[in-house]
Amino acid sequence: MLILGIESSCDETAAAVIRDGTEVLSSKIASQIAVHAVFGGVVPEIASRQHLEVIDDVVRAALSDAQVSMDQIDAVAITRGPGLIGALLVGISYAKGLAIASKKPLIPVDHVHAHIHGGLLGTTLSADQLFPCLALVVSGGHTNLYRMNSWTHFKLIGNSIDDACGECFDKVAKMLDLPYPGGPKIEMLAQTGNAAKFSMPLMVAEKGRIVFSYSGLKTHMVNLINSKRKDLNPEMISDLSASFQKAAFEQIVRKLNEAIELEGGIFKSLLVAGGVAASGAFRRMVAEKIRIPAVFPDLKYCSDNAAMIAAYGYHVLVAEEANPSRFFDHTWDAYSRYDFSSARL
Ligand code: KG4
Ligand code: ZN
Repeated sequence: MLILGIESSCDETAAAVIRDGTEVLSSKIASQIAVHAVFGGVVPEIASRQHLEVIDDVVRAALSDAQVSMDQIDAVAITRGPGLIGALLVGISYAKGLAIASKKPLIPVDHVHAHIHGGLLGTTLSADQLFPCLALVVSGGHTNLYRMNSWTHFKLIGNSIDDACGECFDKVAKMLDLPYPGGPKIEMLAQTGNAAKFSMPLMVAEKGRIVFSYSGLKTHMVNLINSKRKDLNPEMISDLSASFQKAAFEQIVRKLNEAIELEGGIFKSLLVAGGVAASGAFRRMVAEKIRIPAVFPDLKYCSDNAAMIAAYGYHVLVAEEANPSRFFDHTWDAYSRYDFSSARL
């Protein structure tokens, strides 16, 4: 089965063609990072306009790379949310038009859940090998922990009560005058730093309380950097990066182990996804401290892409085989990060 996936929730316009949920025939991404970099973050209005400009070319390029025409596509999968509302609407309007004109089913999918499927692209792991599993999405917008019982069943069991982990990396990087996105730069500087140099606060110390929190760590870093402002030198910036990075990741690993313990060790695997999953330091810490098998995405599928949207769309289509008319109803809308009550996925 061939699925065309389309993604436009933030600052990447992407399209991909996937066979049977796992084989990537094409994956095109038009990144806007350079356009937003001068502002130090994503400007929503500019993002929407950029999507509008390139979306048709990106979809055509994905079909052409995969050497298929719309006639051969079985269904279109599109990010419904969460994301920037104007950016989402560009992709959704385009996908609705394409699906209606070509008489194909249109599958709206949740972007955060789709990240998890990005980690399974190209793998041959069966449902039996994977589920029930812990699934962690750790990105610039989310630090979400799910229990998954099947390819399409996600139960949120923990999330950040304030900043997301990646967002905290970006904010600390900005304080250190490092370019956006801050995570990769902090990881690079941390390689030569001493992680024991600065002590960091222990966030969410209560054992068994499965939530994440990064605003306290961020405030601690703001105060620390301001107090050292006059003496900041490359060695100290590396030490600050290493100490911060260790604390940011240790919190996640600690909460993962608490979640594993709470459920009596029933989880067969840990799936990790999102931009922060690209971190080598994080991958090493998970390998060292988590005892269930962990699956990380190929680096090119950590950040936003449409292959993960198509892969998740495939599983939703298969799960809802008995109710295909659902995918010809186009009366649904986009939803942003801030209106989860209207999300019915
Ligand atoms: O998933 P993503 O591409 O975009 C969304 O937020 O949806 O994630 C981007 C985030 C940024 O905050 C970036 O700083 C972070 O992922 N990131 C990292 C690393 N690479 C990317 N954070 C820590 N270490 C990294 N190596
Ligand atoms: Zn994302």
